[in-house]
Amino acid sequence: MNSFEQLQSRLRDFIPGADLRAQNLPLAPELQLWLLDECYPQHLLDSEQIQRIMNYPAYWCFCWGSGQVMARYLLDHPELVRGKSVVDFGCGSAVAAIAAAKAGAASVVACDLDPDAILSSYLNAELNAVELEYSADFFADERHYDVILVADVLYDRANLPLLDCFRQRADTVLVADSRVKNFSVPGYRHIQFQHATTIPDLSESEEFSRINLYLGEADQAAHR
Ligand SMILES: C[S@@+](CC[C@H](N)C(=O)[O-])C[C@H]1O[C@@H](n2cnc3c(N)ncnc32)[C@H](O)[C@@H]1O
Repeated sequence: MNSFEQLQSRLRDFIPGADLRAQNLPLAPELQLWLLDECYPQHLLDSEQIQRIMNYPAYWCFCWGSGQVMARYLLDHPELVRGKSVVDFGCGSAVAAIAAAKAGAASVVACDLDPDAILSSYLNAELNAVELEYSADFFADERHYDVILVADVLYDRANLPLLDCFRQRADTVLVADSRVKNFSVPGYRHIQFQHATTIPDLSESEEFSRINLYLGEADQAAHR
């Protein structure tokens, strides 16, 4: 089985009868990703399968609104990553990592704890003709990065305290989020607001399509 067949087979473990289809992103049409083809036989899913999908979402077969907004921002502001070392934390499909590579980053690590996300990132990098490195554990080493990208990982509130840690591991941290209300984290400032929905559209509540970008700067005390 080649890598694509392997990923398609993982998708069908979650959603029987589903296909991956290369799709352009409305906000970043210069990028393509292997995403869930929304024409799948939804009526064939029984309640147990639906519950399984809800319990363990295959995040990587969607491009989340935050990932899209971040990709657009990086493509429009290449100076943020050009010539720099970058990591996309919680990369999913690696949409932000791929945008950073297209924007001229010197090196980009796609990091996700889900092995299927790593496989998806690999195939999406190939689809967009960019090279990425891969990591399953951000904390496996103490590498310092110029830029850390964090798109839609704060849905898991356990990740919120990591924002402090990221400022100690990088000069710049770019966060895209629609999940945290009243985001107020020391060292981070709001830089942009934009609407975007998940691709394919999950018809989530309208509030989750309101994406905010925040920029964090290095914790200087950590570098002394
Ligand atoms: C909602 S998806 C967002 C994917 C992508 N950044 C985007 O915006 O399209 C969240 C991803 O973060 C990953 N994730 C969540 N917590 C993580 C952690 N502590 N370390 C690494 N990956 C994590 C999940 O496995 C999932 O792939």
